[in-house]
This record gives sequence, structure tokens and C-alpha cells, in this order.
Amino acid sequence: MSEENKLKSLWGGRFTGSLDPLMALYNASFPYDQKMYQADIEGTRVYTAALAKLGLLTSDELTKIHSGLADILAEWDAGQFKASPDDEDIHTANERRLSELIGKEVAGKVHTGRSRNDQVATDMRLYVYEQLTQIRDILKELLSVFVSRAEVEIDVLMPGYTHLQRAQPIRWSHWLLSYATYLSNDLQRLEQLMERVNMSPLGAGALAGHPYGIDREYIAKELHFGGVIPNSLTAVSDRDFVVEVMFWGSLFMNHISRFSEDMIIYSTAEFGFISLADAYSTGSSLMPQKKNADSLELLRGKSGRVFGSMAGFMMTLKSLPSTYNKDLQEDKEPLFDVLTTVSHSISIATGVLSTLSVNKEKMYAALTPDMLATDLADYLVRKGVPFRETHHISGAAVKLAEVKGLSGIDKLSLAELQSVDARFGEDVMAEVFDFEKSVERRTAIGGTAKVAVIDQIERLRKKLA
Ligand code: ARG
Repeated sequence: MSEENKLKSLWGGRFTGSLDPLMALYNASFPYDQKMYQADIEGTRVYTAALAKLGLLTSDELTKIHSGLADILAEWDAGQFKASPDDEDIHTANERRLSELIGKEVAGKVHTGRSRNDQVATDMRLYVYEQLTQIRDILKELLSVFVSRAEVEIDVLMPGYTHLQRAQPIRWSHWLLSYATYLSNDLQRLEQLMERVNMSPLGAGALAGHPYGIDREYIAKELHFGGVIPNSLTAVSDRDFVVEVMFWGSLFMNHISRFSEDMIIYSTAEFGFISLADAYSTGSSLMPQKKNADSLELLRGKSGRVFGSMAGFMMTLKSLPSTYNKDLQEDKEPLFDVLTTVSHSISIATGVLSTLSVNKEKMYAALTPDMLATDLADYLVRKGVPFRETHHISGAAVKLAEVKGLSGIDKLSLAELQSVDARFGEDVMAEVFDFEKSVERRTAIGGTAKVAVIDQIERLRKKLA
């Protein structure tokens, strides 16, 4: 660091020795926090307006500052901002540039009563809120793809699984909507946490508050925050919003991961239920016949990365004394990575889901009569037989079909069924051994019948409106 720059560094007054060059690199957040340049400039613009309201800046000085800030913003937007090797972070970089543009006499006043502690917390919250707004919008798009497909493909039946074993017939739409239900909860959670992100720390100073009585409400309003953080110590040290965003991302990615796992299974040759568009598959460098579901595997895999970011930062936060400690600078890289990963994952999931094709014949062919064993039991329940007994009777019918070497219970004759239980009537075959009827019988809220699936679609549409 040159002598001159040493004097210029923010805390230069007390420090005379120069920084170990590696320490300078180690300390710098500029390489990754520069993406908050807009929030940083906007925060300073509003903060200086509040200083002017206190008479700490003349209107002439304020005009100069605001025009300098506008120039800096334009430089950033045009990709022409020139960093200096001494720029430690985005805050020092922008202030250094402001001094160059309007002179340090005036630029030296913008930080009056402000600390980088309340400044960085403000920048982060502004930046994150903006990113979350975009994430919310694309998440809504993804949800509406789920809902539209569910509506269009409502007649497609497939096996529903427990323990990954064929269990009961369901609608493909019902499966789709199961994930849409998770995602609509994710959407709700996101909107709730956005309110907590959107609180203003600015005016809290380094930790103890503002010595000139700055109007924090005014600042918050101008920056479109929902309110102010009412304790200055909390304002500068609270990173719960960072953790919340990362937890939100982790849970969301968990849902996406489970969804992807289902789809990876459904896209295998053994299942063949769905086929991914070429745009979301890749081949093998060795085996010419391969079409791999890489998009889904990455969606599944990246959930680990997002969770890791959250877990890592939780460890950073644990046991930190109040208030600002440099450890907090470690919030940015994991958080930014989570935001990018989640946002890309939403877009990829949307692409995958909107372009895949469904092989409804294969899905239908995977339905087997044993999946109607519960329906066979239910048939007798309707005739007044207790379920525990009908469960046993139906099991005996399955056993009989096995013993007779039949391919399924539907191949038993009426006489054979009646040999198991005399209460089976002539209508049993038509009533029970029909997948469509089985699905249609589940009309209660949340079931597989068409009315119940349409009801789910309507509920989700309402949430999306
Ligand atoms: N770059 C720092 C960060 O990201 C800004 C705050 C620095 N504050 C301080 N007291 N050194 O956390």
C-alpha cells in the first residue's frame, strides 16, 4: 500500500504500519460485494438527504453528492467503474470514487454518523429483497407450469407409490400437484420472510445509534423498507435474515430434489413414464445410446450445496459476541451462492417440467390389479362388513390368485371370489377392477377424483392470482 493510500484508508489515522499484502486480500470483500453497488449508492443517496434535513449538508452539497452518485451508478451500469487496488469493499470503493468526482471536502461528509456496520446491513437487505422479488416471480411461473400441466393432463393415470412399491392408482396430475402444494407453501414462506428482510438498519451507526437524531423513519420510507429495526445493536449485528433466506432455499431445494428423484426414476427405461426434452438431457462421451437426465441430477445434487451454505454460515454466527464482528463478512459468499443456485434451479425446473413428454400408455400399463386389493376390501365395506375383516378377505383373494398361478386378482372368477367370501356379488368385477373408478371414488378433499384434483387446481390458482 502506498504511503498516500495508507493515509487515505478509512481507519488510516491510527494506523501507521502497512498491511500484510495477503491480509489485505484476506480482508477484502470487494471481489464479491461489488454486486451490491446499486443498493450501496441508493443507501447513500437517501442517507445524505436525511443528513441535509438535519442541516449537516447544505442543499448545494447535497446536489453535488447526488450528481456524483448518479455518475458512479452510471459507471457501474456501463461496466466502466474502475476499481482501485485499495478498495476494500463496495462501500469504500464508492466513497473513494465520490471523492475523486466531487472532491473530498464534500464527499468526506457523507459518512457523518454512519458506519459501514449499518451501511453493509442496509445494502445486504436492499439487495437481498430485490433478489427475492425476482425469485418469487419465477417461482410463481414454475408453480403455474405445474398447475397448467395438471389441468391439461388430468386424465392420465399412473401408479402411486409408497416405499417405492406400487400402491394405488392415482392421477399424474395428482402427483404433479403434490409438489405444487409444497411449492405453494414455499411461496408463502418466502413472502413471510421477505417482510423480515425488509427492515431498515440505517441510522444505527456503528452500534450505539445516531448522534445527530437522524430521521430513521424517513430513511426507511425512502428506501422502501417496511419499517426500522428498533434496536441499534440488533440493527448492525442481525444476520437472521441471511440464515432465513438460506434455510428457505435449503427447504425449497429439498422439495426440488425429491421431485427430481421421482422424475429420474420415472424417466428410466424400466419405468418409461416420462421423457425429458433434449434441451435438458445430455449424452455420454462413450456410450452413444445414452440420454441422461443431468438437469434433474443437478437439481437433486445442488440441494446439498445450498444446505451446506446454510450450515456453514450458522456455524459462523454461533457464539459471536454482540455486535458487529468481521466474521459477519462471511455472510455474503454463501448467501449470494444460495440466491444464484436457487434462482437457476427454479428456471431449470421450469424448463424441464414445461418441455418433458408424458408416456401415458406406459403409465397405464404399469397399473396392476393388485393395486385394487384395497378397493376389493372397500367393496365389502360398502356391504356393511367391518374393514378389518374385509382387509383379511381381500388378502385371501390375492393369495388364492397367487396359488392358482393367475396374473392378478382380477383373473379370479366370480365363483372363486365367492369361495373366499359369499358376499361378493355379480357387480364386483365391474365395480372393483377398473382403475378409473378406483381413482374416481376418492372424492374427499385432497383425493384423486377429478373433482378433488380440480379443487386443488383452483386453490392453487387462487394463491397465484
Ligand atoms: N465489508 C464489511 C462486511 O462485509 C463491511 C463492514 C465493515 N465494518 C467494519 N467494522 N470493519 O461486513
